[in-house]
Amino acid sequence: TRVAIVFGGRSTEHAISCVSAGGILAALDPDVYEVVPVGITREGAWVLAGSDPAQLAIEGGRLPEITVESGRAVVLPPDPTSSGLMVVDPADGVAVLSGVDVVFPVLHGAYGEDGTIQGMLEMAGIPYVGANVFASAAGMDKEFTKKLAAAEGIPVGPYAVLRAGQSLSEADKERLGLPVFVKPSRAGSSYGISKVTDWSQLDEAIAGARRIDPKVLVEGAIVGREIECGVLEGEAAGGAEASLLAEIMVTTSDDEFYDFEAKYLGDGTPYQIPADLEPEVARKVQEYACRTFTALDCAGLARVDFFVTADNEIFLNEINTMPGFTPTSMFPLMWAATGLDYPKVVDRLIRTALR
Ligand code: DAL
Ligand code: MG
Repeated sequence: TRVAIVFGGRSTEHAISCVSAGGILAALDPDVYEVVPVGITREGAWVLAGSDPAQLAIEGGRLPEITVESGRAVVLPPDPTSSGLMVVDPADGVAVLSGVDVVFPVLHGAYGEDGTIQGMLEMAGIPYVGANVFASAAGMDKEFTKKLAAAEGIPVGPYAVLRAGQSLSEADKERLGLPVFVKPSRAGSSYGISKVTDWSQLDEAIAGARRIDPKVLVEGAIVGREIECGVLEGEAAGGAEASLLAEIMVTTSDDEFYDFEAKYLGDGTPYQIPADLEPEVARKVQEYACRTFTALDCAGLARVDFFVTADNEIFLNEINTMPGFTPTSMFPLMWAATGLDYPKVVDRLIRTALR
């Protein structure tokens, strides 16, 4: 089976995608898969990367990057195998992929997790891992994720949507209360998110989020535990299967949350799998995760994130239709604890895409 691993990309999560791809490249059995690694630079150039998975890692806090220097593609930090890399015009992207059986778009965020590359692959008739165009677009956008989930009866916390140029009304400030989280509507890995504990910080927080997306969400903080669930499309077509749950043990001082640094730098955030929840609460979270997956018409995989309060009230936070696959990412860790190790998950995803 010829499988293209597409990674990097034009999003703020470029580096995280490279690290996810490093894990997947290392996990693919060379006896089963002929792998075509395809990097996309931040500028959108496609690079046929002869990439060494070890290179696609976070080393001493340095994030990897696929880039083109003086017309030559390189992986930063420097990749000794990169001398033969070929730079391809994005318009030839389909041609690059047309010889493969299946594409694994290990892309997080814009131009990857949002339905754009999925649309290109649909047009070209190439099977791919993960959610289709609609589910990708809906799952990328925190406004529409909440609206679709709420229509399905899944509880979501209080929020306000600020479209380009809009600011938060006094009535919304009153309704949401402090603290609030200000988030770009379409982003990931906590880029552009800030916690506002005093309204005087709001304008700066909105400006920061708008550097990533003109549409911004202001969410009332939910005091609760952060619980995540991995979902895989069922072995029988149509269904959804939930993993054991993870709890992210974030410190809850005033300015800390599960931010980029906690996710990927330093010693990693402490977590617990399975999360210590009453069995019926855990089952409810798993049910909500599968229903969110189905309500958005997802395929392949997703990680669905929740808050659970001290009273065991459950609120959907967000869904990721191409969750991180890095060594500290929860999706593969949750499935490993459930009995499917990392290579088995990758293998199942590719088989599902080819079904
Ligand atoms: N958006 C990151 C990659 C995640 O959800 O894991
Ligand atoms: Mg996310």
